[in-house]
Parts: sequence; C-alpha cells; structure tokens
Amino acid sequence: MRTDIAQIVRLEDYRPSDFLIDRVALDVRLHPTATRVTATLTLRPNPLGRADAPLVLDGDELNLKALALDGRALPAGAFEASPQALTIAQPPRRPFNLTIETEIDPTSNTKLMGLYRSSGNYCTQCEAEGFRRITYFLDRPDVMAVYTTRIEADRDEAPVLIGNGNRVEGGAAEGTNRHYAVWHDPHPKPSYLFALVGGRLGRVGRSFTTMGEREVDVAVYVEPGKEDRAGYALDAIERSMRWDERVFGREYDLDVFNIVAVSDFNMGAMENKGLNIFNDKYVLASPETATDADYANIEAIIAHEYFHNWSGNRVTCRDWFQLCLKEGLTVFRDQEFSSDERSRPVHRIAEVKALRARQFLEDSSPLAHPVRPTQYREINNFYTATVYEKGAEIVRMLKTIIGPEDFRRGMDLYYERCDGTAATVEDFLAAFADVTGRDLSHFSRWYAQAGTPRVTVAGTYDAAAQTYRLDFAQSTPPTPGQTEKEPMAIPVALGLVARDGRPMQATCDRVSANGVFLLDKATDRLTFTGVSAPPVPSLFREFSAPVKTTLDLSNEELLVLLRHDGDAFNRWQAAQSVALRLLVARSKGASVADADVAGTASALRAFMETDAPADPAFAALVVTLPSETDIAQEIGSDVDPDAIHRARRELRRRIGQACIEPLRRFRESLAESGAYSPDAASAGRRSLRNAALDLLAAADAALGERLAREQFESAVNMTDRLAALSVLMTLPGEARETALDRFETRYRNEPLVLDKWFMLQATIAEDATLERVMRLMEHRAFSMSNPNRVRSLVGSFAMLNQRQFNAPDGSGYDFLADIVLRTDELNPQLAARLLTSFSSWRMMEKTRQSHAKNALLRIAGKPNLSRDVGDIVARSLEEHESR
Ligand code: BES
Ligand code: ZN
Repeated sequence: MRTDIAQIVRLEDYRPSDFLIDRVALDVRLHPTATRVTATLTLRPNPLGRADAPLVLDGDELNLKALALDGRALPAGAFEASPQALTIAQPPRRPFNLTIETEIDPTSNTKLMGLYRSSGNYCTQCEAEGFRRITYFLDRPDVMAVYTTRIEADRDEAPVLIGNGNRVEGGAAEGTNRHYAVWHDPHPKPSYLFALVGGRLGRVGRSFTTMGEREVDVAVYVEPGKEDRAGYALDAIERSMRWDERVFGREYDLDVFNIVAVSDFNMGAMENKGLNIFNDKYVLASPETATDADYANIEAIIAHEYFHNWSGNRVTCRDWFQLCLKEGLTVFRDQEFSSDERSRPVHRIAEVKALRARQFLEDSSPLAHPVRPTQYREINNFYTATVYEKGAEIVRMLKTIIGPEDFRRGMDLYYERCDGTAATVEDFLAAFADVTGRDLSHFSRWYAQAGTPRVTVAGTYDAAAQTYRLDFAQSTPPTPGQTEKEPMAIPVALGLVARDGRPMQATCDRVSANGVFLLDKATDRLTFTGVSAPPVPSLFREFSAPVKTTLDLSNEELLVLLRHDGDAFNRWQAAQSVALRLLVARSKGASVADADVAGTASALRAFMETDAPADPAFAALVVTLPSETDIAQEIGSDVDPDAIHRARRELRRRIGQACIEPLRRFRESLAESGAYSPDAASAGRRSLRNAALDLLAAADAALGERLAREQFESAVNMTDRLAALSVLMTLPGEARETALDRFETRYRNEPLVLDKWFMLQATIAEDATLERVMRLMEHRAFSMSNPNRVRSLVGSFAMLNQRQFNAPDGSGYDFLADIVLRTDELNPQLAARLLTSFSSWRMMEKTRQSHAKNALLRIAGKPNLSRDVGDIVARSLEEHESR
C-alpha cells in the first residue's frame, strides 16, 4: 500500500485568497520543446485575506527562469521556487507587479494538461488545475483576472494563433520566420478558462447577429482537409446561440467565438472563454464517417460548452466543491436544448438510461459521493456522473417544483446577482428562494446527501368509498462516510390511468395543478376521491426524480400503461419493467412461466403493429431490452454476468421469434430513401429499422447474418453500416471476420472510424475477445498515448463488455490492472477513468470479487502511483457499510 496519502482538500477549510490578481499579461513563445512563458501578474492583497500572509503561487512541474517584482529582479533570498510552488515570504502589502519567466516542454507533456502538442499543433487544457503547468499562479477559480496574451511562433509550424477574447494585434515578429498575435479578453475570468492554440488548421466560419444586433465571427478550426466535416458543428453553434437567447435571454459577449478540434484530448470538450477546445470526435462529422449518435453528441456537446459562457464563465465557481454549479446546470441546459431540437420524450428516455447506467451505478458503488462533495484528494476524479447528471436532475426537480415561470425568473435573478463573480450552490438556490418566497433548505439536501433514494409505493382501491390511496415510503441506503440518511424532497409527477386506457379525473388536494406531489417525509399518503374504478397509477412521469421505485404492478397493469399512458416516458418504463422482471428472474436461475414470456412478447408485438409506426424513435427504445448492466444493478449482489448475458439473449430470441412479421415489415417500410440527413426523425427511422435487424438476428441467426451482410454492403451512411457490423459481432464465423477486414481497409486512414472498429471488437461477448483486444493493441492505428484510442479499445472492453471484463478467471481484471498501471505513467487522468470500471466489483459473486480485489490490491501496491489513480484505488477498496 502506498504510504504517502495525498493531502485532502476540505470544503469547510475554504477561505478567500490572501492575494488577488487583477490583470495577467502573458507572452508565450511557442517552441516544440522549450516554450518560454513570461507572465506579468498585477497583484494586490485581498482585503478579505490575512494581512501578513506570504504569497504562495501554485506550480506543477515548472521550471523558473527569471523573477522580477515591479521590474526589478528579486534577490535569491527573497523567494523560494520548486516545481510545485513559488513562495515570496514578504510580499509588498500594496499592489505590485510580478514578472515570472518559465520554460516548458509541450512535446513531452503526455498528461495533456497545461500546454501540449496534438498532431503537431499547440493547445492547452487548464481545467481544473492545468494553468499552473504553464506559469506560477493563484490557480483557483475565485481569483479572476483580465488576460492579455501575446502568442509568438514559427510561421510554418503555427500559421494560426488563437487566444481568449478578441484579437487586437498581430504581425511579423523578430527572428526568421516568426510571427505573433495579441489577444485580449475583457471579461475577468479564472485561470482554468485560459486557452491558446497555435498550429496548422483549416477554418470554416460565418457571422452571427445577436439579439442585441452585434456581429459575432463564429469559426470552427479543424485539421486541414477536414473542413467539409465541420459544417454540422458550425451549424450547432448557431442554433445554440439562438436557443440561449430565446429560452434564457442570454446573449454572447465577445466579437469572436472559436472552436478548435484536436485529436488528443482527455475529455469531450472545454469551455475556455471565446475559445472552446474540442476532442475532434465531437466536431467532425460526415454521413460516411459519423453515426446518428455522433451527430446527436456533437450537437449536445457544442451546446454544452457554448452554454457555459453564462453558466460557468460569466458566473463561475467559488471553489471546486461547487463544480455542479456550472456542470449540473449546464448539463440541464444542454438536455433542454436537445429536447427542444429533437424529440423531448425520446431524449428524456436517453437521459434516464444514461443516468441509471452511470450515476445510479456510481451511487451504489464505493465511489458514491454527494453532488457537492465535502472533500477530495484529486479534483479530476470528481467530474463524475453524480456531479454532472444527478446535478442536472436537481435543477430539473427545482423547475418541476416551482414551475417554469418562476424557474426562469430565478435564473434571471441568479445571473443578474452573480454575473462576474465566483458563486456557490447557496447563491444559486437563494435566487429561487427569493423569487418564490419558498424555503429551499430541505430541497438543498439533494446536494449534500449521496445515494439513490428508494421510494416504495402501495396502492389501495376502496370500491365502496370510491377512493384510491397511495402510500409512499422513502429511504436512502448508506454510502461512504454517510451511514444515516434523512428523507429527501422528492417531486412525484403522477396520474391515474383507467384499465381501458382513459386518463382518470380523480382529485387529490395534495397534488398540484400540474400533477406534482412533493414527497418530503419518510412516509406519506395520498387519497384520491371520486375514483369510480380501480386505476393503474402512473408515477414519476417524465422521471420526475432520480430515485428507484418499488411498486407492485401486475404485468397486465404495466401493459395498460405501455398502451395507454399519456406520459411517453412511463409507456417506455412499463415495457422495461415487464422485461426486467423476467430478466432478473431468469438471471437468478428462477423459473419463469412460459406464459409470462409469451405474454410479454405478444404485448410487444401488438405495440409494434399498432403504435410503433407513429414514432419510430420511441418504438426503437421500447423494443430494446434493458441492458446487461441494468439487470446487474437490479439484482444488486452476487451478480453472475454470464447468467445475465444468457437470460438477455434468450429473451431477445423469444421476442424476435414472436415478432418476425412486424420486424420484417419495419425492414421494408423504413428502408432508407434519398440522401442521408442527421435530423431526429430520419435518425429515428434508422434506429427502429436497426433495432429490428438486431431482434431478427436474435430470432434466426442465418436470417440475421444474411440481412446484416446485405445491409453492411449496401449501406450509404455510417449509421447503417455500423449497425449491420454490430449485429454481425453477435454471430461468430467467417462473415463477421470478412466484414471487419473490409471495414478496416475502407477506413484505414480514418482514426475516428477505426475507433468504432476497435470498440465493436472489444465488446464481442465471447471468450476469445481479450486475446483479440491484446492483438489489436499492436495494430498500427492504436496508440497508448491517444485517449480516444485507449477508450475505444480498452475502455469499451472494461465498461461495455460485462461478460469478458468480469470473466470468472479474473483475466479481464488483470488485463485492466496492467493497462491502468501502464497508462498511469503517461496520463494519470485517463488511467483513473479506466480504473473506475472496477467500481461495481463488490456487486459480483464471490470468485469474481476476490479476483477483482486482488487486481485492485496489485494496483494499490505499485509505488509512485499518481494521485488520480491512488485516490480511486483507495476509495474502491475502502470498506463501508453497504446497502
Ligand atoms: N468543463 C468540462 C471539461 C472538463 C472536464 C475539463 C473535466 C476538465 C476536467 C466541460 O464543460 C464538460 O463538461 N465536458 C464534458 C461533455 C459535456 C457534454 C458533459 C466532457 O468533456 O465529457
Ligand atoms: Zn461542462
């Protein structure tokens, strides 16, 4: 075990900085291995800080070359410099300038934090604590400064030079073939929003007129030659800008907005002020190389980073504990955008699927933590599903509880009050409390208490009294560091459905006009009057709260909801619940009445025949069974992934066989005609047609193989080609290998497409897959230093191939441990992310558990682990009272 337990940062220890920085002038002379950075910081003592404090600037692997105070070199005894810090024990107690010169090596920066090179281009990533890898600084979000950046480079190496804000100057620089540009950002910002780019890049751009009639030059920069794949991203920027004006009244505030795509990036994208930097996977799209899912992701991530300009940049976070203030809110905003641009119910289902797969899983794991954590060892490990997705659910619940008008008024007040400041969750909630006059202190528990609440509901009908009673009970399981839990404030959007499918007009004064009941006690009871027949309750409509529900509805009652519920989310949920019940029973080895399987299959058949054609995208979701991880979570302990896989395959086969005719009809009626368009309706037709292919292949392997081969050969877009190939992955044999070879040849020079090829092979549910993955690591297109490649091959194996990652002999765990240890030496953030695939190890049956534990212990025992990996492995192994 490692002994040097990293220092823990605690929310309760927050105090304002002793110094403030008003202005930053940076001069960056780009060089592949010896970039010179001269930073002139205009500092002053913070009136809210300690009067006698030393000045301690953060650094990370820095190398100090020169230091001057108000223009005079500081004598050696007046300061202390290490790679991690620059300390001046007796700084002036008045405003002063500090000029710091450092030298950094962007080429050997494999952590991809700070200034680094990607395909020869220079770029930066400063969130959360990367700016300190460029110069010594008060690298914390509540220190906000106005930045002016001069970037100088070789004209050949970096003809394009971009910084934050507006370009104010540029031209030839001293030295052969050097040039420079000066960028000025008038908006004070924290250092994590700093960025610069220098390189050879192609540009596509257009002008955008804001609601205040200002012209903004919007541009997307990509690898030269890929400009024709940047159009969709450019379009998405324009739609995002318009949407934030229309829905939230927020206007853009600079003369330029630039997005640069790079191929080596730890995350999806980053919201640097006026200069968003993107993983190129979330920018580049053409029908030939990108799937419908890629287009949807690009649109969502472009929107997300753009929306940060208000929720994150104009109003930023006081400290990193407040991360959900910008991330949860901005995820909520991007989800609303996608819902408006596409289909709201379909998007809501996709959100909830992701929430359950990632956040519920995290919440039930040793890594569970509150949406606003109270302590961390490594902040990079807190960009989690909980902070992001549960954080977004909290904002959504707030809107559900107070209603859309007050929500908008609260948002306006929040922006008005907090613009230009570094705010807290309390500031956010205060705005809504003030516009509504409500006390939100109970509601605020959502930020502090970890774990997924379980709500148990029982319904009782009284025919004589014509009443219907709903008894609610809630509880939240213990999580690390939190053994006792309080009741939460849970909005329950509900309705009653008659058995013949009509909505019922029953009344209950505790349910608001918009159909919401606020459950805020451990137990509560609702009584509806005027109920003339036993109803079927439809609860948590639109998934009104991030909770698990126990409600004993019979299969017939669920099927009433599937057919008739006015809430599309709950129609989908009903189908999932019916299937999940069968799948859990089968996975546990319990016998399942044949009639139940047949009944489910015939209900789905009826759905396909009557309801599906009206909304193919929705239908595709309904006919897709719960995933293997959904089933594992529902089982909760002593999980056997092989049994789950078999149960799911068997049910798919039965459903496929019962529905052959409607499935074949979908294949015909939804056949692609005309040119590819990524719009939601066209994508929806493709998704149902491809879901049909999947079920047909499950029903009849020979038929499936023939159809998939035909589709693979004739497809005119990546969505259909990949869908066919992925069906072939489930069918061992020659056809599969041939198709894989053809795909590889066709896309040999397309790294982002080969990522899909890596991923498909890593997720084959067969025993030979681990060997295949190891072989693919030798492929010429694979590289351990590119995060997209590693995530596609290794990450997909660990996160998506439940059966092989959790192989009973422990081989999957051992492999991942090896990769984590290797990756940690290059890129600790990436290594830590991969390691989180172990988070549900305690859910597994005993043999697998002990293999997983050994693999984790082996990682923990390695000397010199990064803080990132050290933190995740330590928390994964910690014992805590569970469930
Ligand atoms: N601010 C983050 C990017 C980031 C994350 C920087 C972690 C440093 C550490 C950005 O706004 C973000 O959240 N990006 C997401 C995509 C988004 C659509 C949820 C990402 O990169 O995954
Ligand atoms: Zn974000």
